[in-house]
Amino acid sequence: MFKYSSRTLLKATSSAAKPTVASIGSIRTKYSLPELDYKLDALEPYISGQINDLHYHKHHKTYVDNLNKSIESAVEAKSKGEVKKLVALQKAINFNGGGYINHCLWWKNLAPQSAGGGQVPSEDSALGKQIAQQFGSVDKLIEITNAKLAGIQGSGWAFIVKNKENGGQIEVITTANQDTVTDPSLIPLVAIDAWEHAYYLQYKNVKADYFKALWNVVNWKEAERRFEF
Ligand SMILES: [Fe+2]
Repeated sequence: MFKYSSRTLLKATSSAAKPTVASIGSIRTKYSLPELDYKLDALEPYISGQINDLHYHKHHKTYVDNLNKSIESAVEAKSKGEVKKLVALQKAINFNGGGYINHCLWWKNLAPQSAGGGQVPSEDSALGKQIAQQFGSVDKLIEITNAKLAGIQGSGWAFIVKNKENGGQIEVITTANQDTVTDPSLIPLVAIDAWEHAYYLQYKNVKADYFKALWNVVNWKEAERRFEF
């Protein structure tokens, strides 16, 4: 049974980061960047290697580092009974923890075309059947998702999710900043990064072109796999 959390995400995505034991005595773990299934320039021409390099080594790495720092600070604050500090740290944990999780989903949601990127779910797969029943076609689901992405003000994410509490219906939701999907009934199938850092070096202010292009490297096989949970 797939429950969406950072830990089960790690279990569900074979190449995702595995926490390393930082302190055996306290069994404290640290988060780290996930290993990627492809080279950073393998998503070209749709997402440039330069963008992926910065996105992975700078942006995602910063979320990882700051998540670890925030958790360390929270553990210390708790041990000292510093409740105000503990409360204040929740924002940092939410932001950096969300950034860590969302980007793990993001990398796994992409694949070079040589590895199946952009190949839509087969019509006889569970996901393919659900999309056809609800939306008529994958193109329509993409159109709806792109409209949601275009509606994000500032930075945020769009997620194609499976709602387990609603008969496995597919929904498209958005979140602001680095907020991630925390509702346990929602399984993220595809996560789309709508932050400027995900596209600006290549697409400048024409983010609609980025939203249109990225589907050429979406890993629908991963979405199909998650839909089975
Ligand atoms: Fe990002």
